[in-house]
Amino acid sequence: MATSIHLPKTLYHGPGSLAALESAVKRLGIDHLFVILSERAKSELEGEIRSLLKKSRTAVTFCTHASKEPTLAHVAEVRKRFQSSGCDGILAIGGGSAIDLAKAVAVTAKTNIASIKNFEIGHIERHPLIAVPTTAGSGSEATKVFVITDEKENIKHNPAHPSIIPDVAILDPELTLSLPRNVTAQTGMDALAHAIEAFVSNKSSPASDMYAMKAIELIGTNLTTVYHEPNNLLAREQMLLGSHFAGIAFSNASTNLAHASARPLGARFQLPHGLTVALTLPPVVHFGLEAAKDRYEKIAAILHTDDLLMYLENLNETFEIYEEARRFIDKTVLENMIPLLVQDALSGNGILTNRKIPDKEDVFHVYEQIRKRL
Ligand SMILES: [Fe+2]
Repeated sequence: MATSIHLPKTLYHGPGSLAALESAVKRLGIDHLFVILSERAKSELEGEIRSLLKKSRTAVTFCTHASKEPTLAHVAEVRKRFQSSGCDGILAIGGGSAIDLAKAVAVTAKTNIASIKNFEIGHIERHPLIAVPTTAGSGSEATKVFVITDEKENIKHNPAHPSIIPDVAILDPELTLSLPRNVTAQTGMDALAHAIEAFVSNKSSPASDMYAMKAIELIGTNLTTVYHEPNNLLAREQMLLGSHFAGIAFSNASTNLAHASARPLGARFQLPHGLTVALTLPPVVHFGLEAAKDRYEKIAAILHTDDLLMYLENLNETFEIYEEARRFIDKTVLENMIPLLVQDALSGNGILTNRKIPDKEDVFHVYEQIRKRL
């Protein structure tokens, strides 16, 4: 079968690589940079970004983004600010939501698409885009997709196109050292899910497999280390690379049921994305285990375990995933909402990419397993 792979063009990587921002901006011909940054990045990095860009005499306009996942209203508001600023390029520095917001603005500002809902797949022009992740999770700096919540409909859209992949990604592990412990764990579980799902997807290719396997190895080796030793720079660096490779893998091979069933949970209960995926991953692996036996065995071997399900459950226990989830989900409300969640999941992306296509009952069972754990 013929396959293809879409990759980021330029990657800077390693401690201190944020300094590459200056040459990245010059190379992309940006005179006035619009910087979308998370609140945490603002307090820690605004001064550094200013001084880096002073050297290249690049004008800069900052736009702080509350680390919530972007909505259609956010995109419209930030696009307006971008267009009135006279900027000619965008830097996103933050978690997946800041980078996703930047992607949406870069695309819709150039093509004048009034809303993401009208996003059409075809030729896409966008403004130059640099992405600097401060979490090792979404891999958004490497992917051709972004996630936008429709706050009126309570659903998440995830448009995809190869032109959406940022021009430059900078992976500087120093920027992830101050991540709170629970965010480190949950975003790490998201990255692990990206790699696992890409590897078992029926759209996987030899190239996406290579990235997925390396990502599983890097994340498996380093995730609990960064949780227990947040200042371990080498482990942080390996996690960022793992997350990036997982991003490349799923951007090309697609995620499947773990993300398909996580999206409605996030949209209906406002949980952080990584937390929703950590919840859905074990029951989804259980669902697919027989249909993709060889693939799951390979994953278990890379993770040096005989029991992948137990391995994932242990990670969730270590990271207090169920305790965290109880802060957002009322068990009775969940029980009543399961039929709606099933409907949302089946109407979104990531259903047809499973080796065994899940039906209503299968998806119901995934949510039911989660309810029992809460
Ligand atoms: Fe994800």
